[in-house]
Amino acid sequence: MRVSILGCGHVGLVTGACLADIGHEVTCTDNDAAKMGILAQGRLPIYEPGLGSVVDRNLRAQRLSFTSDAGEAVRFGDVIFICVGTPPLPNGEADLAAMDATAKLIVTEARTPKLVIEKSTVPAQTGQRLKQALATYARHSISKFSFRVASNPEFLREGTAVFDFLHPERIVIGVEEEAAEIQLRKIYLPILEQRFSCPLHESTCPETPAPVLLVTDINSSELIKHACNTFLALKISYANLLADICEKTSANVDQVIEAMGLDSRIGPGFLRPGLGFGGFCLPKDIQAFTHVGERAGVDVALLHAIEGINRRRVKCLMQKLHQALWVVKHKSVAVLGLSFKPDTDDIRLAPALELIRQILDAGGDVKAFDPQAMEKAKVELPTITYCESAYQAAQETEALIVATEWEEFQHLDWALIRQTMSRPLILDGRNFLQADAMRALGFEYYGVGRPLEEPTREAIA
Ligand code: UGA
Repeated sequence: MRVSILGCGHVGLVTGACLADIGHEVTCTDNDAAKMGILAQGRLPIYEPGLGSVVDRNLRAQRLSFTSDAGEAVRFGDVIFICVGTPPLPNGEADLAAMDATAKLIVTEARTPKLVIEKSTVPAQTGQRLKQALATYARHSISKFSFRVASNPEFLREGTAVFDFLHPERIVIGVEEEAAEIQLRKIYLPILEQRFSCPLHESTCPETPAPVLLVTDINSSELIKHACNTFLALKISYANLLADICEKTSANVDQVIEAMGLDSRIGPGFLRPGLGFGGFCLPKDIQAFTHVGERAGVDVALLHAIEGINRRRVKCLMQKLHQALWVVKHKSVAVLGLSFKPDTDDIRLAPALELIRQILDAGGDVKAFDPQAMEKAKVELPTITYCESAYQAAQETEALIVATEWEEFQHLDWALIRQTMSRPLILDGRNFLQADAMRALGFEYYGVGRPLEEPTREAIA
């Protein structure tokens, strides 16, 4: 099938490249000239494991192309995926200006009927507004073609987006007519049947349950996306609330969460306490969803509480830093990890960046290291010292904070780090390191919701 992708952000790029990889002909466009320039040079504007090789092999197979000519992109596909940004307005509501501009573009440039699919995360009832916008622009246009609208939310996690696209747990499609459902089923057939040559796994893919295709109405499909992200945020904030209670009661949050996760009704995922959720999805979606609820006249106190807990996470860690150092002013602090989560260079709403701002406000100096996100961070925080390695960042500092749990930090020579620090103090903002192992190496170690000392077996008995 011929597919157009409007918007080459994280979602658009992964969707375009993976749809080409399963056999469709795909062309992608974006109105950001700088981004299109990078793509034209065969480079990627984002770091996403596995994406580069999928893009390469499909460019070579001529199933994937990028064009700066938005009209050409619109005319190319039988189906158009709208993957434009829906950033928050100052009041937290989703800004749908790019959706509206895209509707106008489609009507102006289309020369054949199209199935227009919302892939961007949007509030419930956006599909209805999109249909109206397409119809309104069509009335004033010379071209008279019919446009169907469907919703197909994405559940891609940054860092594992290619895997998530090709091996999803579920694919949700919100449709109004059978014809749209048939087209969407056809697009996803290779994935539903897990019948494609997987670019991630050379011989056999890991055993995963067959993806479920869920067909809903458009409003429900839009709402499912917000409902999922908000529920994930709820779990994280709940874990953080538990961690705070554990700290005050000398309980161990690791053990509490392990036991909770063994209950299949609760499940172990998204219960890791720490610096809280960042990125451009969970924080913005919860705000947009809160607006949807408020507009609908529903009590959304729960959603405000999730956000409130998350907002306090960095402050909580700052309190620990103040407690340990007494005075932060003129002290040198190492921060390991800048991206909002590991395996991405995305720093949007990253807790690490807010933490660094607060250390600077307190008069401290920061030496930072991140395996991928330093170039982007330099634009946001130009005055701190960026280091070539975690070792360099730790040297002669009086505290080291783990802000993002990059796997490679597990394998550092922590004994060496201990020797080079002015004071061997670790604040583990992600409960990523083994507390007892760090203490055995001579570190003063503070995690989140973890006891200050490992209790002896006798004490437990
Ligand atoms: C999230 C969702 O997980 C995806 O399903 C969704 O498709 C995507 O948003 C989106 O809307 O596009 P993502 O933003 O990539 O994906 O990141 P997550 O893995 O959800 O993590 C979000 C934040 O929560 C990170 O800052 C992470 O460090 C934090 N987190 C996650 C915790 O603090 N504790 C946890 O237990 C899990």
